Amino acid sequence: MNSRIWLSSPHMGGNELKYIHEAFDTNWIAPLGPNVTGFEDDLKQFLNTQKEVGALASGTAAIHLGLILAGVTAGDEVICQSMTFSASANPILYQGATPVFIDSEPETWNMCPNHLEAAIKDRIAKGKKPKAIIPVHLYGMPAKIDEIVAIANKYEIAVIEDAAESLGSTYKGKNCGTFGEYAALSFNGNKIITTSGGGAIVCNDEAAKKKAIFLATQARDDAPHYQHSEIGYNYRMSNIVAGIGRGQMEVLDKHISLRRDMQVLYKNIFKDVNGVTVFEEPNDNYFSNHWLSCITVDEKIAGFSREDLRLALWEDNIESRPLWKPMHLQPIFEKYAYYGTNVSENLFNNGLCLPSGSNLTTQEKERITQVIAAFLA
Ligand SMILES: Cc1ncc(COP(=O)(O)O)c(C=O)c1O
Repeated sequence: MNSRIWLSSPHMGGNELKYIHEAFDTNWIAPLGPNVTGFEDDLKQFLNTQKEVGALASGTAAIHLGLILAGVTAGDEVICQSMTFSASANPILYQGATPVFIDSEPETWNMCPNHLEAAIKDRIAKGKKPKAIIPVHLYGMPAKIDEIVAIANKYEIAVIEDAAESLGSTYKGKNCGTFGEYAALSFNGNKIITTSGGGAIVCNDEAAKKKAIFLATQARDDAPHYQHSEIGYNYRMSNIVAGIGRGQMEVLDKHISLRRDMQVLYKNIFKDVNGVTVFEEPNDNYFSNHWLSCITVDEKIAGFSREDLRLALWEDNIESRPLWKPMHLQPIFEKYAYYGTNVSENLFNNGLCLPSGSNLTTQEKERITQVIAAFLA
């Protein structure tokens, strides 16, 4: 059996252990320390922003804290992109709030601004103005974020930007993760850089970051004894984990370029294949990190389905995965309101994510190319 080729696996840069050793040498094992602040500074610099970054245990924690800081409480409604990973939506339920799902537009596959505004108007007409909006930059592709933010501003609703998959992507030259009142980054094992598991919240200013970190460290009031006036969480990133992040920041630009090369590889592989479309930026305003390279297959034209291709790759031990199943079709979320048509549903039915790791070797890329060529023949 050939060795497994993964969709997206961790890719260490080399210096991660140096930062971890420094933490051991100085006994900065837990909870905080120079790697945490160093990693936060690196991220802030990379994002080229005046905003503040707080390192957390996960991207999910960042979305949860964003909702809390935006004032979302039980009974509120929160608008969320339907086509996403469940972690965008789960924290809405952690807060006892109610999700309202929005379809994608076909250009970026992210939250459709038209359906968003229609939903806001309808929710207001029904008696409740949504408390927050969670757009996502799925697979690294920037959403139509200026339109989404303009609508959010018009109705004075907070945007919590899910940039878990889009570190290094930009819209009109501005980094994903710097558009919302709060934004979430993820350093989960499959992301463009990983800390083995981790995330970060991007906040507008120091005061907001301070509040986020306060909540992330068990909401301890300023007292010599343990005193609590609010519910706290254990969401902070450790100094060891942040050491991995510091090493990964040294290779982030390289990872972005290698992931983008994978998308070019697939454009070449499928360039003469009718019915297969490789996902790409709609125009020069968009720069995707191409965290995952994706295709859609029109079965009627191509003569095969995305599932046929997925199974052919799997036969050779190559992992691919259908595009994320929209939240409004998930058993846990299907009872909630949904605004849209069937754009995200069609993407789910016809789309496939292909191996996209920055660590794929020349031989692995050749194997992928050959297996697809044999399948197409
Ligand atoms: C779109 C999206 N949102 C949120 C998350 C959650 O991030 P984490 O796994 O770091 O909690 C992920 C990844 O897992 C994601 O892909």
